[in-house]
Amino acid sequence: MCGIVAYIGSKPARGLLLEGLKRLEYRGYDSAGVAMLNGGMHVARTMGRVSGLEELVHKDEQFNGTIGIAHTRWATHGEPSERNAHPQGDDAKNGYGIQVVHNGIIENYSSLKQYLKDKGHAFTSETDTEVLAHLIGELYDGDLETAVQSALREVTGAYAIAVLCEKEPDVMVVARKGSPLIVGVGKDEYVVSSDSSAIVAHTTQAFLLDDETVARLTRDSFRTTTVENVELTPEIQELEYTLEQIELGDFEHFMLKEIYEQPATLRICMQGRVDAVDGKIILGGVADFEEDLAKAKRVLLLGQGTALHAAMIGEYLFEGLAGIPTEVEFASEFRYRNPIVEEGTIAIAVSQSGETADTYAAIQEAKRRGAMTLGAVNVVGSTISRETDAGVYLRVGPEIGVASTKAFIGQVAVLTMLATYVGRRHHLAGEDMLDALNSLEQIPDHIETVLKQSDHILKVTRGVVNRDNWLFLGRGTNYPVALEGALKLKEISYIHAEGMPAAEMKHGPISLIDKGMPVVIVATKGSQYEKVIGNMEEVRSRGGHVIAVATEGDSEIQSHCDDVIFVPDVPEPLQPLLTVVPLQLIAYHAAVLRGKDVDKPRNLAKSVTVE
Ligand code: F6R
Repeated sequence: MCGIVAYIGSKPARGLLLEGLKRLEYRGYDSAGVAMLNGGMHVARTMGRVSGLEELVHKDEQFNGTIGIAHTRWATHGEPSERNAHPQGDDAKNGYGIQVVHNGIIENYSSLKQYLKDKGHAFTSETDTEVLAHLIGELYDGDLETAVQSALREVTGAYAIAVLCEKEPDVMVVARKGSPLIVGVGKDEYVVSSDSSAIVAHTTQAFLLDDETVARLTRDSFRTTTVENVELTPEIQELEYTLEQIELGDFEHFMLKEIYEQPATLRICMQGRVDAVDGKIILGGVADFEEDLAKAKRVLLLGQGTALHAAMIGEYLFEGLAGIPTEVEFASEFRYRNPIVEEGTIAIAVSQSGETADTYAAIQEAKRRGAMTLGAVNVVGSTISRETDAGVYLRVGPEIGVASTKAFIGQVAVLTMLATYVGRRHHLAGEDMLDALNSLEQIPDHIETVLKQSDHILKVTRGVVNRDNWLFLGRGTNYPVALEGALKLKEISYIHAEGMPAAEMKHGPISLIDKGMPVVIVATKGSQYEKVIGNMEEVRSRGGHVIAVATEGDSEIQSHCDDVIFVPDVPEPLQPLLTVVPLQLIAYHAAVLRGKDVDKPRNLAKSVTVE
């Protein structure tokens, strides 16, 4: 997520800005940049890490100033690149040396861009921020504060901005609407940031800007106004919380927050894509390839970890809904085999980050062998999203917790939409499509129902949390869910867990079962329900402690298990979107009960960019 740090005072700004950016790194970003006034305007931007930016400006005397703005960007408009990184400036030829860093989205940027183009402005990036910088330049008449106020009256959307102008080397103007910005007040200095964690090292006195408020800062004074230039008196407060804590709200960890965000993010993921009234799926990202998708003979799904589990569910969906032979494979294995890629193959890379090295290499290999490639990726402009022929973004927002949760729901939802989209162009009947879409639209409400049982799930988990070996079992689309439940538990609580198809247990793992061993079994109503009940009895008769995830209203289940967690009744292909949620919560509660660092599990990185 984007982050802003800005400084005006008497200290060297360079180190302070870079250190501030580093404190914001945990929020995720793809590029970084800085602008500094020091006998002129100096700008440096880079793709990738803040350490890369540090190298760029470290020895450069131009960056020795005491007033500067800095930014970490998480792409929304335009791919991550040096060109699209912030700060963004006004017109290079006719401008005033204005530089802007910006968090948020300017919704009416295309009409503003056209207006500015008509006035002769030339743009160098794809960002909405550059449009804002040009607009401020266009309206500049010798006073930066007035130009910013005028520009902000023209924009719709959300913003937190910090602005510098070469013509006014001792002034900084900052403003916000709908995106946080805090002004730290020191002695003859101000430290501005979108996150108080970048401020508290320097001062604990600060004021929070209200929506549609502008602040003009010099080294020894500030003035705040509305965008209509009505003067305001902000209340200076003692900073108690970092934005990380504020962002967490009532949640103790990002993982829990992200689990609870799932209904909302799923709604966003489906927004404008699922039309249950007319029975249509609209996927802009693959629209140009409709014909190729209609002709698809084979689907190949590639991913790692949680993304692979989502891909495994995709296999059931593509075969079940679209009737297309589908294979799923660890990207890391696929890339080193001699895979046969037949004509008419669509290879889909499933990835939250879009940067996983193995998944990227595998999709390149599939492409080289003639497959059409698609990405089901979360991070806009990531390597996989750029290198595939087309794709559908997950739209679940930045995932900060290392253990993937909301991205899994997004991946399964995108694969469901894709399978339905492709299926309709193959064998899927109109009324079946309508049924599937109607059920899909209701899933966010059903996830909310599951989340309400968190206290019950905590109680169930507490009963077995001291056990060091667990099994997770499922059948059909719930088999990958069992794998995902086991992965979640082991990665954050360090409890050893195995996931497998329920029937596989008899082929060896059953010998592990002893008195009290926790065995989590997804036993929802569906074509294999009776068989799963049989598996539960096999576990129980050997003393295992069975925790069932079952369908609401199943009155029989209690007699076959020790604990039960109910989920609403939905068609089998969509069950994973609900059955995974109790397993995420079991893993979360187990890790907290065992005192583990849920958001930063040992040995794990959020994105695995090495083999
Ligand atoms: C598990 C987890 C990992 C990732 C895997 C792939 O919670 O996060 O297993 O799913 O490393 O990452 P992406 O989806 O970024 O390709």
